[in-house]
Amino acid sequence: DQPTIPLNDGNAVPQLGFGVWRLDADDAPHVVGAAIEAGYRHIDTAQGYENEAGVGKAIRQSAVGRDRLFITSKLRNSHQGYDKALHSLDESLERLKLDYLDLFLIHWPAPAHDLYAQTWKALVEAQKAGKVKSIGVSNFLPEHLSRIIDETGVVPAVNQLELHPAWQQRDIREFHRDNDIQIECYSPLGGKESKLLDNPVIGEIGHKHGKSPAQVMIRWHLQQNLIVLPKSSKPERAKDNFDVWDFTLAADDVAKLDALDRPDGKTLPQPNDNNQMF
Ligand code: A2P
Repeated sequence: DQPTIPLNDGNAVPQLGFGVWRLDADDAPHVVGAAIEAGYRHIDTAQGYENEAGVGKAIRQSAVGRDRLFITSKLRNSHQGYDKALHSLDESLERLKLDYLDLFLIHWPAPAHDLYAQTWKALVEAQKAGKVKSIGVSNFLPEHLSRIIDETGVVPAVNQLELHPAWQQRDIREFHRDNDIQIECYSPLGGKESKLLDNPVIGEIGHKHGKSPAQVMIRWHLQQNLIVLPKSSKPERAKDNFDVWDFTLAADDVAKLDALDRPDGKTLPQPNDNNQMF
């Protein structure tokens, strides 16, 4: 069986998940269905991706039972606030046609709106009601995490962040470790701007192991006990990205990848931007 990561609430999450940002709603049933067939058991969507209905369709059409799948969605910024968040979670469940989510996240802190703390209280309530098994956040900085922990005593199970060899988030990993918050990594292949997929150092490591640059990067995440969410709209690539269980990066490979960290690796909007993208 594939590896799982234990969460602070007693649940566990399949470590390698399938991200579906930018996946067209119409393509989602086919692409997500192929990913499940390739072995993925963890699917990461969001209200803002506008493909929940398509993801739900893939789940229903799949031969794999609901109880063997781990499904995440995320709350849109414009739905923050206690009542709105609870209502919005119900709408996600309706679109997905599911009775419960495995994980529901606040997508961005959007600090200028100052709603994320009361939104977190709504997620705590939703978990108690059984609508979602685990709750967490995304794109939160330590200051945002500290505030919701202080106000509720409930520690998020995960924080989903952009994390890849060009942006390793080393400065905040210890905070997550100390607070028992697992990090989920989006854009693990570095997105387009970082050009990591064309990086010669990564290519050379891949060549040595008979693996692609994408597989090398995913392996780098796995070996650090990070939850990793590669995405692809192409089933062949999604399948390759799941074929990472038959090799191990050596210490010198890892050291070369670790050396690719750069402070300007930031390619997406930042948590304090009050991001409106989603
Ligand atoms: P595509 O959907 O066309 O396959 P990320 O933002 O997760 O780091 O990914 C960056 C891009 O890398 C994705 O949009 C995806 O585009 C592409 N990609 C995913 N898997 C692979 C792969 N195995 N080889 C090359 N490109 C990939």
